[in-house]
Amino acid sequence: MCRLRIGVFGGARGNAMIQILLNHPDAQLVAVCDKYEPLLKTAKENALKAGLEIKCFTDFDDFIRCDMDAVVLANYATEHATFAIRCLNAGKHVMSEVLPSETLAQAVELIETVEKTGLVYAYAENYCYMDQTFEMWRRYKEGAIGEVTYAECDYVHDCASIWLDITYGEKDHWRNHIYPTFYCTHSLGPVMMITGRRPVSVVGFENPPIDEFYRLGHAGGHASGIEMVTLDNGAMVKSIHGPLKLEPAHTDYKVYATKGYLGSDQGGKVRLYREGERTCHGENKVYKPKKFVSASLAKKSGMTTHGGSDFYPTHFFIQKILGKPEGEWAIDVYSAVDMSLCGIFAFRSILNGNKKMEIPDFRKKEERDKYRFDNACTNPLVAGSELLPTSGYPEKPLTEGEAKANREKWLDAHKDER
Ligand SMILES: NC(=O)c1ccc[n+]([C@@H]2O[C@H](COP(=O)([O-])OP(=O)(O)OC[C@H]3O[C@@H](n4cnc5c(N)ncnc54)[C@H](O)[C@@H]3O)[C@@H](O)[C@H]2O)c1
Repeated sequence: MCRLRIGVFGGARGNAMIQILLNHPDAQLVAVCDKYEPLLKTAKENALKAGLEIKCFTDFDDFIRCDMDAVVLANYATEHATFAIRCLNAGKHVMSEVLPSETLAQAVELIETVEKTGLVYAYAENYCYMDQTFEMWRRYKEGAIGEVTYAECDYVHDCASIWLDITYGEKDHWRNHIYPTFYCTHSLGPVMMITGRRPVSVVGFENPPIDEFYRLGHAGGHASGIEMVTLDNGAMVKSIHGPLKLEPAHTDYKVYATKGYLGSDQGGKVRLYREGERTCHGENKVYKPKKFVSASLAKKSGMTTHGGSDFYPTHFFIQKILGKPEGEWAIDVYSAVDMSLCGIFAFRSILNGNKKMEIPDFRKKEERDKYRFDNACTNPLVAGSELLPTSGYPEKPLTEGEAKANREKWLDAHKDER
């Protein structure tokens, strides 16, 4: 069988996908694009070790002309929709890293481009495929605990010690301009996929800004964000994500339902409680889940990061394109956009005194129409007159001198790479 020819756009996080593609029997890595050339050198070397010659590009316009079936987008989190639309229009299937879009207008255009082209779009929300969350998804789908009544999800990741590294000390890097509720799908994503429910409204909250992050370059002090989401069956979800003081970084997922409970437990275990014949009497099972899909291939990929999840988004993307049964686990564009709308509308809620905001269903054209020109975001080049702040608190941008000093620290730390 012919292998799918796949290119990767963005070689930092994209290196994880590169490793998976180099070890996957149904795919072949053909090209990598990144404007930072040391990443291309690494990609080329890794490919050669796997016995493969790949093409490398610094410019997307050259990359997209390359002969390939599909593209993995691991570029800036705020630019995924823009590039996904270009890839789809060029006839390539797309897998997108988180998040799906920066604005509502982009979300509408992304959905309509997927519909128009009929190509595969898969959302790489790997936190849905952690050993614990993926097992919870499987058990819920089997009907183990009935219908969701309430859920909680946490994604706590301080990042302060690596902030200059992951922003390259650049004042305008996307990480320095996200508002507290934007990066919400690592927490909300698994709950959405486990329960199969759609969010219908949200109330947003933010914790106080963090002084350290102002100094590191985040104009809004990079506070953690909270979404209180109502699902379409009335169940509530509490989601919190962002920097809080806890190491190592931490995730936690809890789903309460009509017949029991599924949650992540200490030591990578899952807790399953099922009520029996008598109300309030049931059975608790706490166990370490085993991978239940393509376990040996996942092991062969060597990817153990992010709770064992990193192999699966790419694998399911490939299976979906090939029309194979495991492709059913890929996350489609509607689910991707549903998750991200919670964060976008939660910030509107914060800016409006924690007002409850309705979340539109972008499966319906009439609901999309209201937002197809809604460009509100924190990037002045995209937002125009609809520019949003990066926090509900007053912003404290760095002076030119402070910003330059951060950039110089990064350049100094990476001088041997170039
Ligand atoms: N799912 C996860 O667990 C996880 C973990 C880390 C990062 N991410 C996501 O992966 C994406 C990439 O994050 P990152 O940590 O690699 O940092 P990043 O966003 O800073 O890196 C993006 C890379 O793409 C390159 N790039 C961006 N625009 C380009 C352009 N126009 N032309 C050429 N190259 C371009 C940059 O040089 C950089 O190397 C983000 O969307 C982030 O949200 C996800």
